[in-house]
Amino acid sequence: MAHLLSVSCSLNVSPVSKPYPKWCNLGSMVSPTSLSFCIDKSNVKRFFLHGKKSQRVQIVNAATIPFSQEAITNPTASNGYSTETSPKPKRVMVIGGDGYCGWATALHLSNKNYEVAIVDNLVRRLFDHQLGLESLTPISSIQNRVRRWKSLTGKDIKLYIGDICDFEFLAESVKSFEPDAVVHFGEQRSAPYSMIDRSRAVFTQQNNVIGTLNVLFAIKEYREECHLVKLGTMGEYGTPNIDIEEGFITITHNGRTDTLPYPKQASSFYHLSKVHDSNNIAFTCKAWGIRATDLNQGVVYGVRTDETEMHEELYNRFDYDGIFGTALNRFCVQAAVGHPLTVYGKGGQTRGYLDIRDTVQCVELAIRNPAKRGEFRVFNQFTEQFSVNELASLVTKAGEKLGIDVQKISIPNPRVEAEEHYYNAKHTKLIELGLQPHLLSDSLLDSLLNFAVQFKDRVDTKQIMPSVSWKKISAKPKTLTTQ
Ligand SMILES: NC(=O)c1ccc[n+]([C@@H]2O[C@H](COP(=O)([O-])OP(=O)(O)OC[C@H]3O[C@@H](n4cnc5c(N)ncnc54)[C@H](O)[C@@H]3O)[C@@H](O)[C@H]2O)c1
Repeated sequence: MAHLLSVSCSLNVSPVSKPYPKWCNLGSMVSPTSLSFCIDKSNVKRFFLHGKKSQRVQIVNAATIPFSQEAITNPTASNGYSTETSPKPKRVMVIGGDGYCGWATALHLSNKNYEVAIVDNLVRRLFDHQLGLESLTPISSIQNRVRRWKSLTGKDIKLYIGDICDFEFLAESVKSFEPDAVVHFGEQRSAPYSMIDRSRAVFTQQNNVIGTLNVLFAIKEYREECHLVKLGTMGEYGTPNIDIEEGFITITHNGRTDTLPYPKQASSFYHLSKVHDSNNIAFTCKAWGIRATDLNQGVVYGVRTDETEMHEELYNRFDYDGIFGTALNRFCVQAAVGHPLTVYGKGGQTRGYLDIRDTVQCVELAIRNPAKRGEFRVFNQFTEQFSVNELASLVTKAGEKLGIDVQKISIPNPRVEAEEHYYNAKHTKLIELGLQPHLLSDSLLDSLLNFAVQFKDRVDTKQIMPSVSWKKISAKPKTLTTQ
């Protein structure tokens, strides 16, 4: 199978002419683990928009601001931590706020009058460069995005550009912004990416597990009342032959009963990184009294939210390629360009799905109703479940209405997964908090398909077929070959 992957590409990106940061030693980079910014600490503290006229976006105040260690008050839970909730959260740090879910969420929260800061090292944009991928929608630089948001709404979004695996950077950002809630989207989030080769597997686990550990330590040290809202994935559970509960299951074994974490059966190095994250978070809730909500999110589809459609510079990314594209988004683009829908194997793989407008709603609900000190909550964040074949049928029907003849093909499954299985996952906790789902209706599918048609000239059809095989992953770095 041909691959479009390279780890040894040389990029020469000037931060003055391009909306990307300048990367150190990219030409000699052999592993994504060696990424670092060419900015010293003073530049972390202060950076400027590049354009005709230099304009300041946000000065990060890196001075250590003393944080009063509030005494933990009664009433206390059995683990010794307060059962009181914190006052209404106002300041929300969105880690990974330049990404697909994070950007939509940052705008939504800002629009709802939360003070928002985005933390992101822009590594997702680097992955695109390395792999020759591009979002279907043209996306502006993060600096232009927040500048446009300010000009349209008058609202500031603060920017902290850096890597959360760098604890010093993260600690300074937390001390400077003093968040009431941290929403953590900032991970390498593609299962295929984590299965490209050894270096990407290692990068994924280091980036995700260490990044999350750093977030936990930063909260413990500098912002102990802060509520961590962490994006996990439904993929942590796998596809067991019993109902999937929300985080915990009560088991009676040899006459004794206990409520235990629901068993995890992750099926890629990416999904495994999320399992490790969940375990680390649960442990620190117990040990240090961290308050945390693990949002086990389903597959997200859609691109528009009320905020991103306000201006083209606010457009969100829309991935359709075989590495970062999610199932329904991919099918819509495939239909738009006349490519048969690529069903992996038998197509009975069933998962939970949700509209991006519900992602932003769920995150706000979690923030507005924080976990208690020491509490580790798990919410299954999806609204409907579909098999791959069901999604293909829905897109075929939507295509008919637009006069598009949609075909589907079954291709050998590049993943190792059950292709026909039982799947029934609970998802009531967010509904109980007030989630009003946008279900996948005909009109939504029509508009998603229309959107894909609108941008179809930007589609690189070479990126549609999957190029990463779970079984063929090797220790050797994958290099660029032509298809
Ligand atoms: N998109 C989905 O369908 C989906 C489904 C389930 C769960 N999730 C979870 O939601 C989260 C966000 O997903 P997404 O689709 O928006 O991903 P994305 O790749 O579009 O965004 C992730 C962002 O995090 C940033 N980032 C990564 N590592 C970082 C680091 N070390 N320091 C600072 N920033 C870093 C990236 O630059 C990027 O902007 C992920 O944790 C993912 O696992 C997503």
